Amino acid sequence: MPDSPLLTADHGAVRVITINRPDKLNALNAATLDALHAAFDAAERDDAVRVVILTGAGPKAFVAGADIAEMAGLTPVQGRDFSQRGQRMMRRVERMPKPVIAMVNGFALGGGLELAMCCHLRIAADTAKVGQPEINLGLIPGFGGTQRLLRLAGRAAALELCLTGTPVDALRARQLGLVNRVVPAAELETETMQLATQLANAAPLALRGILDCVNVGGECGIEQGLEYETTQFGLVFSTGDMREGTQAFLERRKPEFSGS
Ligand code: COA
Repeated sequence: MPDSPLLTADHGAVRVITINRPDKLNALNAATLDALHAAFDAAERDDAVRVVILTGAGPKAFVAGADIAEMAGLTPVQGRDFSQRGQRMMRRVERMPKPVIAMVNGFALGGGLELAMCCHLRIAADTAKVGQPEINLGLIPGFGGTQRLLRLAGRAAALELCLTGTPVDALRARQLGLVNRVVPAAELETETMQLATQLANAAPLALRGILDCVNVGGECGIEQGLEYETTQFGLVFSTGDMREGTQAFLERRKPEFSGS
């Protein structure tokens, strides 16, 4: 598709989805939000895909936010609709039953940080900067930023980032728990692909169980979360991969997980 705002490429079982508007620092306009939603639907349906890497094209940005030019003239109702459209897409990423890794190759601002926070793991280049600068536009985060920052990094960090609008560098983001790893920019792709390959070789249904448990647990009380974990734990005993994993351990060989 020549006009698609995304590029997709498969490396074995790893699908790399690249937001491809480098001249606009990969800002999320409505067409990009919709394309991302469709791309994650497709990655979920495709059994050959076990892990997704999400990144931005060009050397400067992961995503520099929602598209300000597109937002500038919106009415309140259109603004609410734009927020809902973004939130639906973000939720879709968060609820993906396969691991999604954000490869944060530069600015992750506003909708960019909101999108990265929906991914299950985040690896940032040491040159990356992340933040919620909406306040500088007289706006507030609208794709889940206030809620996910609060849950991921706590009240102090959420308020600092959203109230000041000042971005933080990758190391501070690591200290705040906003990113899992920081690596030299030149090693970002290799490190991310290594992590993705590790996950692609793991048992897909067990990965899914973990994602489900953490998603559910993040939104309910401990008793309900533990009950959910117990049920998922039991379910995993129905998989061929669980038999393979335990048998391989006992036979002192490497397991081969098929997703059965
Ligand atoms: N929406 C729309 N366009 C954006 C954008 C956004 N969120 N962020 C950057 N762009 C565009 C710029 O308008 C510019 O387009 P142009 O060349 O047609 O004028 C292009 O991307 C390059 O950006 P520029 O500002 O020239 O790059 P820079 O290196 O000087 O600054 C940033 C980089 C990230 C600091 C700066 O672009 C910025 O502050 N962006 C907005 C961040 C933001 O507020 N995000 C939250 C939005 S709710």
